[in-house]
Order: sequence, then structure tokens, then C-alpha cells
Amino acid sequence: MINDKLPKIWYGGDYNPEQWDADIWAEDDRMFKLAGIDIATINVFSWALIQPDEHTYDFTSLDETIERLYRNGVYVCLATGTGAHPAWMARRYPEVLRTDYHGRKRKFGGRHNSNPNSDVYRRFAKTLAGKLAERYKDYPAVLIWHISNEYGGYDYSEQSEAAFRVWLQARYGTLEALNKAWNTRFWGHTFYDWEEIVLPNALSEEWDGNRTNFQGISLDFRRFMSDSLLECYKLEYDEIKKHTPHIPITTNLMGLYPELDYFKWAPHLDVISWDNYPSFDTPVSLTAMTHDLMRGLRQGQPFMLMEQTPSQQNWQPINSLKRPGVMRLWSYQAVARGADTVMFFQLRRSVGACEKYHGAVIEHVGHEHTRVFRECAALGAELGRLGDRLLDARSGARVAILFDWENRWALDLSSGPTVRLKYVDEVHKYYDALFKQHIPVDMIGVEDELGQYEIVIAPVLYMVKPGFAERAAAFAAAGGTFVTTFFSGIVNESDIVTLGGYPGELRKLLGVWAEEIDALFPEQKNSIVVKDKGQGRLSGSYDCGILCDLLHTESAHVVAEYGSDFYAGMPCVTVNRFGEGEAWYVASSPEPAFLEDLLGQLCEDRGILPLVSAPADVEATVRVKGEERFLFLLNHGSEEASVRFDTGGIDLLSGEEAAGQVRIPSKGVAIIAQRS
Ligand code: GLA
Repeated sequence: MINDKLPKIWYGGDYNPEQWDADIWAEDDRMFKLAGIDIATINVFSWALIQPDEHTYDFTSLDETIERLYRNGVYVCLATGTGAHPAWMARRYPEVLRTDYHGRKRKFGGRHNSNPNSDVYRRFAKTLAGKLAERYKDYPAVLIWHISNEYGGYDYSEQSEAAFRVWLQARYGTLEALNKAWNTRFWGHTFYDWEEIVLPNALSEEWDGNRTNFQGISLDFRRFMSDSLLECYKLEYDEIKKHTPHIPITTNLMGLYPELDYFKWAPHLDVISWDNYPSFDTPVSLTAMTHDLMRGLRQGQPFMLMEQTPSQQNWQPINSLKRPGVMRLWSYQAVARGADTVMFFQLRRSVGACEKYHGAVIEHVGHEHTRVFRECAALGAELGRLGDRLLDARSGARVAILFDWENRWALDLSSGPTVRLKYVDEVHKYYDALFKQHIPVDMIGVEDELGQYEIVIAPVLYMVKPGFAERAAAFAAAGGTFVTTFFSGIVNESDIVTLGGYPGELRKLLGVWAEEIDALFPEQKNSIVVKDKGQGRLSGSYDCGILCDLLHTESAHVVAEYGSDFYAGMPCVTVNRFGEGEAWYVASSPEPAFLEDLLGQLCEDRGILPLVSAPADVEATVRVKGEERFLFLLNHGSEEASVRFDTGGIDLLSGEEAAGQVRIPSKGVAIIAQRS
């Protein structure tokens, strides 16, 4: 349990009373009660209020807020407020400001704006966190700490440049090792002094954000920046722990956010929390995958849905309303995938600046007679009735998909063979094929234990880190099914090609050699032609494109061949028996039907069967707790759906018995409690 003081799914969200006059607060208290709200995230952007100058700290209004909320039955998720520095700090100490990609020194403005390598910023942030923890350590209202806010963005200041050199010295020890890792003899880049190394941005090696001349430098810069921001987080974390060792600490992550390596961050968060803002047209399975990824950051431990909008965002180009029932549906989607909280940004809609058109539980009209409030209050009541039943339940998936931020950076930074390859899209294709078949998946990192799964899928594992190839081989040898794809096993962690034939370190496990890699234009296609009479569900031919590896088998068996072009007849899908298990190679990016057939078959062969029989619009997943198994059924479609499953149980939401079949209205949810 995140904190057993509140043994239920926490319900609430960001609350900014400092933006309001005191006479509105009593209304807040009344309406929070009506909505069943029991947690408020406060102090997220209040640094300037708490610390009006360098030497003064004034906690009076924060004291009052926490006490008032607690009197009214609302706990707090207490933020440290360091996500935006005060204007006086920027004026007095310009080094706290960031320098952008184009080398321009920023002025005061915006948020998430502090230079993570400014000693001044770090000192002030750490001091504030310590003071808050000391002051509120005995306040019973504090359930969890929330450090800063949505860490992210890169900085190109002199301080960061100096810190980068120190970071590189720690990583490489000698310039010789660094020159080798970056292959600096290319374009005459040999470094003879650490001071010669500059940050990669539009003034040096990079352009367009992700284009670079030197992948090694750009990759290390991303690692360094992720670490720099993590250092800032850890400074505050350590300060808080001194005073409140038993109160959990988090910071709100952003799902598939590209700039930080969340697998590196996760061990430093007591509980993962994240902000979920799908847009109207985000595929439901992409949101599901992101929840699963957030759950996977800490090996399946339940996470917090820290933010979502009750109705609409303000920052997307077009901000649609969540249709009736969708806020509830998406809230349960988070719970289904491991969230033990449902929280919003924000509880009351602000009156000015850029978030005044962002949805809130309490709208500008100020009363409870709104569609949004009614839906929020209904959900609050329902979550209240669920009590602690679902808390701490785990996924129990037997299939895992690997996700790796460093691999993603390397692919994004790659110059060739194609700009069409998008790592997240490829991973999502594999995820979606299982999602549609109602087969649960865990999203895991490359360092995670593979042996707990029966099938491990590693889409486009371009970068193979030290030790991974051995672990993948051991997994297959012990009976696992390993699946990987085109453009895998190509480079090491410095983006240096593994010589001797692709897929490099994975070659023996896969039993193939990729001699060349063809890149296809959007209008070009090839096909995957399944050999002989087919392989289970795989039969006939499927489209493929983006990249095509021209393969030779070494020990693998050919399952399908290319259908056209000068490499027609060369292997396209192979399987290599390896010890007790097998390793599959899919040499191009296939159409969805192929993946449904392939992955469906691989699962079926191992008795990993769909959880339900239902239309694809129905999302099905499970959480398992002790002897109980909770089958979540979420109907994202626009029609009522009939869903069949093997084991009957009680629907926790309706209280009705569900004996193997239920009908779920459009946007409806059922949570069937079964004995496992
Ligand atoms: C983020 C931030 C919040 C708010 C919301 C708006 O998630 O953490 O402060 O700006 O976006 O969607």
C-alpha cells in the first residue's frame, strides 16, 4: 500500500488554493466532500509565495491549507514546489536560468525552467525541501511527497557543459577511452583535453533536435542530462528522508516522455506516479501500453495516476471534451493496469494564464451542477465503495515486451537507414497485437529478469547493452520464446557497430545473418510470404515495409520469405531452436494482421489464452491479489458489447453475479472478482 493511512484508491488531484481568495476555500471544502475527494496535491508551484526573498520563508498559508484540508477529511500529496523558481532568484542569480538548444540564455519565465547544474538552484531547492520536511514531518495529513514537477527539458549552459566533462571523466576515465567510444577519428574529432569537449546542440554537433554528426556524444549528453535532473531530484529526496523516513516520495513522470531514462529514475522513487493526457485520437492500446510501462518501471509495483483531466486539456491544438462516461472509463483503465490512485489536474479551474481552459472538477461556474462534477462525484462514490479490495494487486502477465530509452535515443539519433522508423510505434505494434487479443503484457526494461516470462519480445533492439545477449540466450535456452526484429543487435551502448555481421551479438541466438538493410519509401511495400502450408495461424502473405533486412539463415528455420524485389525468396521470418526454447526474427515491419497471427500463435502454443472472447474494442486485463483475480472489462466502443469468459464471479461495480458472460454498455466497465 502506498500509505496505509488511506486504505483505498486515492481520489483527488492538484489543488491551488493560493490562486484564490479565502472566501472560496469553504466552497472547495464543501464540494470536495460532495465529490468524494480524499487527497489534494498542493504546493506544486508555490516556491515564490513561500520564499519571497533569499532569506525569508513563510509557511503560514501552507499550514492553513494543510490543516483545513485535513479537518475536512482530505489528505495531502505535498509538493516541494521546485518546478519553477521565483523571479527574484533569476534576477539575483542568473545562473539558475537555462540556456537553450541554440545557445540562447533564457530570461525569467515559464516553468521547469531551472538549470539543473546550477549550484545555486540546487542549494535553494534542497534547502526548501528540507525546510518543508522539517516543518510538516508530524502532520498526519501528509500521505506522500511530490518532488518538483514533471522533470524534463535539456540545458546547454556553461555549468552544464562543465558538469558534462566531469560526468564523462567518471564514465570513461581517460580521453583515450572516450575517443574510442565515440570513434572520434571520424571527421577529425580526436580530443586531447577534456576542456575541448562541448555540448552537442545547434551550435556544435546537432540540428533539428535529434539530428547529430556524432551519435556517441549526443547519446552521452542525453544520459548526462537525465542524470543531472535525477541528481536534482535525489538532492531533495535525501533531504526529505532525513525528516520523514516513512513517508513515501514520488515525482510525476510523463509516460513515454522521450528525454529522461525512466528506468534509471525508477529505483529512486518510492512509488511511480505519472500524468496521463491522451488526446481524443490516441489509440486506447497506446495508453494501456504506457500504463503498463509505468507499472513496469518498478517491477510491477502499483503506481499512482497523478494527473489526468476530468474533461479537457488546454495545451493540445484541439482540446476535445471527454465524452460522457470516458473520464470514468479511462480512470478504470489506469486502475486495471496497476494504478492505486485516480487523480486529476485540477480540482478547481484557474481564472487566468494558460491553464484557464484546462478542465477541472470544479468549473468556472463554481457550483456542482455540471456534467463534469456529477461524473466526478459518481466516480468518487464508487471508488469509496471499492475500499481496499484492489490495492496492491499485480498483473500476472506471462508475456513481456522490452522497452529501453537509450535504445530509443540511439534510434532517434541514427543517421540512416530511414527516418521512418519510430521506436515507440514499432513497440506499440507488437503491444497492440496482443492487446486486441486480450492477452496481458508486462512492459519491462532490458535489465529486468527475463526468466519470469514465457515469451519476451524485443522490438527493434538496435542497441545491445553489455550482458544482454547472454541473458537473452539463457532465457531461450531455458525454454523461453524470444522474439526480435529487423535492425536489432546492430550497435553497442556507444552506438558503435558490432562487427562480423548483423545482428551482432544476437546472431548466434537467432541463427541468422542480415547482409544488407533496405529502406522503403512510404509508397513501397514488400510482402511476407509464409512458406509451405503455413505455420499454425500464419498463412498466405502479409504486407511489410519501412526496413527490410536481407537475411541468410545459419541455424534458423525459414518460416516466411520476401515476396518481391531483388530479394524475393530470401528469408523474412525465421525461428531458431535454441536449447529448450526458440528465438524468432521478423526481418521487416509487418502489417498488424501478421503480428496478431504470429503472437497469437506463439501464445496459444504455450497455453497463454485470451482472457475473454469479446470485440476488439473491449479492453480486458487482470490484476491478481492472493487468491483473488480481478478481471477488468472496459468497453471503449460505441456499441454495447457481449463478453464471454471462463470463470464466473461477482462484478465489484454492479454487485451482480457474472457467470461467464456479461453485456457491457458503450463506455461501461466491469470488474469481475474471481477465485484464482
Ligand atoms: C502537467 C502539469 C500540470 C498541468 C497539466 C496540464 O501534467 O504537471 O501542472 O500543467 O500538465 O495538463
